[in-house]
Amino acid sequence: MDPRNLPPDAGVGTRLAHTARDPHAHHGFVNTPIHRGSTVLFPTLDALEAALRADSRVGPYIYGLIGTPNSRELESLLASLDGGVGAVVVESGLAAVSVPLLATLSTGDHLLMTDSCYGPTRHLCQAVLPRMGIETTFYDPRLGAAIEALVRPNTRAIFLESPGSLTFEVQDVPAIARVAGRLGVTTIIDNTWATPLHFRPIEHGIDLVIHALTKYQSGNSDIMLGAIVARDEADWKRVKATAEHHGHYAHPDDCATCLRGMRSLEVRLARHAASALAVARALEARAEVARVLHPALSSHPDHALFRRDFSGASGLFACVLKPHPRGRDYLKAFLESLRLFGMGFSWGGFESLVVSSDVRASRVAAPWTDEGALLRFQVGLEDPRDLISDLDAAFAAAARATA
Ligand SMILES: Cc1ncc(COP(=O)(O)O)c(C=O)c1O
Repeated sequence: MDPRNLPPDAGVGTRLAHTARDPHAHHGFVNTPIHRGSTVLFPTLDALEAALRADSRVGPYIYGLIGTPNSRELESLLASLDGGVGAVVVESGLAAVSVPLLATLSTGDHLLMTDSCYGPTRHLCQAVLPRMGIETTFYDPRLGAAIEALVRPNTRAIFLESPGSLTFEVQDVPAIARVAGRLGVTTIIDNTWATPLHFRPIEHGIDLVIHALTKYQSGNSDIMLGAIVARDEADWKRVKATAEHHGHYAHPDDCATCLRGMRSLEVRLARHAASALAVARALEARAEVARVLHPALSSHPDHALFRRDFSGASGLFACVLKPHPRGRDYLKAFLESLRLFGMGFSWGGFESLVVSSDVRASRVAAPWTDEGALLRFQVGLEDPRDLISDLDAAFAAAARATA
């Protein structure tokens, strides 16, 4: 079906299945073929010059770096899901973090960064931006409208990540966006946890939305990819130009793989969310666990904000263990006894994962006071009963190993 013929109130599953493809332009094949390529040929000089003047979202293709049918289809779907004017896909989620920052900030500018941000985002602020004369102040993710007190005359951007992908504080996004809008400060959010299916930041006043497509959108732990979606034209142009000037690129194979993942995003996300909540509740009931950090649990301090702004959760959450006299031995025995939770970074794939993290070392604005180990779980598509049994067995093995 031509996407223009979709009912205006078509549900998200329908849009995921029926947009961003054009079978009859490809001999009826359901999916768009993969267009690998650098050079695009022009029949005439007029055609070449017209292509250079055209809007790269819809005009003739120019060069592989600037766009392919596969990157364009993915970008059009991403922009429509978020309600933005356009998207830019890049080769990783981290590139999707750095590009809008570099598109927005110049020497002498000041950035406000949430203290709950993804580790490499923090590194960018602490090790890379200072070399360009850009200063970062980390702020307490729970500040809300009080962030205004931290805004300086040279504050150019406020960066949010909600919930933080390690510590799961939910931010008051509309309150921060209102302050930023009034003061003319650009807002950028890493929305990887919720995806546009469960939180649409542009509707809450955010200017630029980041997605690590490596996670839920692709959904199989087999590619790296990222995207930025812009609320307005000027922001989209700035981000697109910055990505091009720095040579950022999204491979057409990866774009097609991601698009394939997105066709089933709604059903996968529902399963991730339901299973994660079941696992989180099981952990909450265990004596070894000090607290569970999952915004959909009523025990979470930001549960009210979560219920106000989000339409659902995903499969990533954390728990803090009670301190153990043989901390590392206990942790090692626990992690190495798990059979279904792999130990490794990233998330959003079909398989369950766990990592432990020392948050205390990195926080600057909102100190982390828990003494026990923080374990972050990515709950995959396995039967949640098996996952809970796996955790039960690992707790028992860790207790035996450290008795
Ligand atoms: C919240 C968040 N943003 C961005 C990224 C970066 O994504 P990628 O691994 O594709 O570079 C990650 C990766 O774990 C992440 O957790």
